[in-house]
Amino acid sequence: MRTVISLDEFRAARLALPGSVGLVPTMGYLHEGHLSLIRRAREECNSVVVSIFVNPTQFGANEDLSKYPRDLARDLSLIEPLGVDLVWNPTPEIMYPPGFQTWVEVEVLTRPLEGTIRTSHFKGVATVVAKLFNAVQPHKAYFGQKDAQQAAVIRQMVRDLNFPIEISVCPTLREADGLAMSSRNKYLEGPDRAAATILFRALSAAKAAYEAGERNAEKLRTLMKDMLASEQRAQPQYVSCADYDTLEELDLIHGKTLLSMAVLIGRTRLIDNFVLN
Ligand code: PAJ
Repeated sequence: MRTVISLDEFRAARLALPGSVGLVPTMGYLHEGHLSLIRRAREECNSVVVSIFVNPTQFGANEDLSKYPRDLARDLSLIEPLGVDLVWNPTPEIMYPPGFQTWVEVEVLTRPLEGTIRTSHFKGVATVVAKLFNAVQPHKAYFGQKDAQQAAVIRQMVRDLNFPIEISVCPTLREADGLAMSSRNKYLEGPDRAAATILFRALSAAKAAYEAGERNAEKLRTLMKDMLASEQRAQPQYVSCADYDTLEELDLIHGKTLLSMAVLIGRTRLIDNFVLN
């Protein structure tokens, strides 16, 4: 496994990779969720590239960029045994050279849900992922269902900009009690850790109601909100029952549906979702 920083070094190493190339973009501080994407890429592609870059432009002014957890040595020791060929760990100056002024904006899909709160987040995500796609030129790229709207935005961008890349969206990995794995879970201390399972429990209750025949989307949103209200430490930011493809809120459930929510547990912001088929 080779780890490189500069764009020139990266390009040379990329050109030497044989066969189909799979890319797993990450911001590091890796956990089993990230590793599951890498394992999938390893199974499906001849060569595997992992990028590790804490992308400053996807953090809002009042978000946790400087506090975002980082541990490159630990990350490399976790991915080395998985048979990764090439790791790219660029600096912010490489990704955003002085005078940078070219952005990728996916317009409609970025407005609801996360977009109502993190207004410039997806502009940063789409731009950095487009830059990664240009540099890596992968055949396949792997994203987690955990960040459902991000995956939808990337798929839209790939269609709109004609990137010849297959996007694979992989299942959410969870802790034994249902909490979706996330680099931010490390901020959950003491009673916040137990309280954080309320997202999974609320989503599970809504899914059970759906499976019992409930098709009224507002009833499912209310059910999830009521469950969240039962946990004192939880402060919901949004609770949604939306069309899986358009992310528009539904009245009546028909077809593939995304149940999703963003909830503050203490000062930690968590998101989670379930897909109803
Ligand atoms: P990061 O949060 O590091 O996540 C990297 C990838 O891992 C994303 O595709 C994310 O959806 C996936 N992932 C996170 N938690 C997961 C879990 N519990 N199970 C399965 N997959 C999970 O998402 C980003 O970085 C950035 O926005 C990035 C795409 C790298 C652009 O900067």
